[in-house]
Amino acid sequence: MADLSTIIGSLRLKNPTLLASGIMDEDAGSMQRMIDCGASAIVTKSIGMQPREGYANPTVLELEYGLLNAMGLPNPGIDQFAQEMKKLQKSKTPIIGSIYAADAEEFVALASKMEQYGAAAVELNVSCPHAKRYGLEVGCDATLLQTIVSSVKQQVKIPVFVKLSPSVVNIVEIAQAAEKGNADAIVAINTVKGMKIDLETAHPILANRTGGYSGKAIKPIGVRCVYDIAQNVNIPVIGVGGITTGEDAIEYFMAGASAVQIGSAVYYRGPDVFRHVCKEINVWMDTHGYKKICELVGVAYQ
Ligand code: FUM
Repeated sequence: MADLSTIIGSLRLKNPTLLASGIMDEDAGSMQRMIDCGASAIVTKSIGMQPREGYANPTVLELEYGLLNAMGLPNPGIDQFAQEMKKLQKSKTPIIGSIYAADAEEFVALASKMEQYGAAAVELNVSCPHAKRYGLEVGCDATLLQTIVSSVKQQVKIPVFVKLSPSVVNIVEIAQAAEKGNADAIVAINTVKGMKIDLETAHPILANRTGGYSGKAIKPIGVRCVYDIAQNVNIPVIGVGGITTGEDAIEYFMAGASAVQIGSAVYYRGPDVFRHVCKEINVWMDTHGYKKICELVGVAYQ
């Protein structure tokens, strides 16, 4: 049996599969279920300063090759979220607090609260493809991002991850800005901006019109981003985007990821996806003579 443990900054994970932000992670009960199903760490729903209802329905569509969603960052707000974090305080599985904001001051306040609540790390969501003021408006601006990351780093002791969007001109430049701000890891990628039009009504189906596309169809986009980023930064990269099987995860490791996050595949394969993917990684590694995840990381560069 291969050793599936992996290290992201100061976080030691028992296996390389984390739950991605945005699915089964809005309350302690659903997060605990994902822990019980084998996720090595949980990234929470993205939490902001104030409660937010999110967009009207429809917010999620199952398309031929993936999911298109525009939830609109619904969340109870950071103060209310303390209750959910408290219920998981004794968990041995790291809980990573995903946070979104429009400026450094808010990011610092949110990260400090997540740290107080016992989060093992924070993930700065600067990549939601459709939320006005938040997300991409922050994650497209390398200078602003560096300031935000460095402000958060000066305030908290826990590791700071930064989740990037593929919908930028140069994702390497954005990743390097996060690294200059002292980020501990890059998470790539968030969903890809997309739209679905109903031919009969001649109208976009999502209430928000545009959304973020996820699932198998975006895996080549994620793999390319990880491949480009990992060769140009000296901090770990966590791959996300379309990982459904162990072989998908192996591809991300070869591109340079030290761990992967799984989101849409929880919908496609059920919560046991973490166990299935780990088993498939193990079988592949045994068959191909690899003993540790780190032996695979970045082998595609040669
Ligand atoms: O709609 C949403 O809440 C999506 C958030 C994200 O993609 O970061």
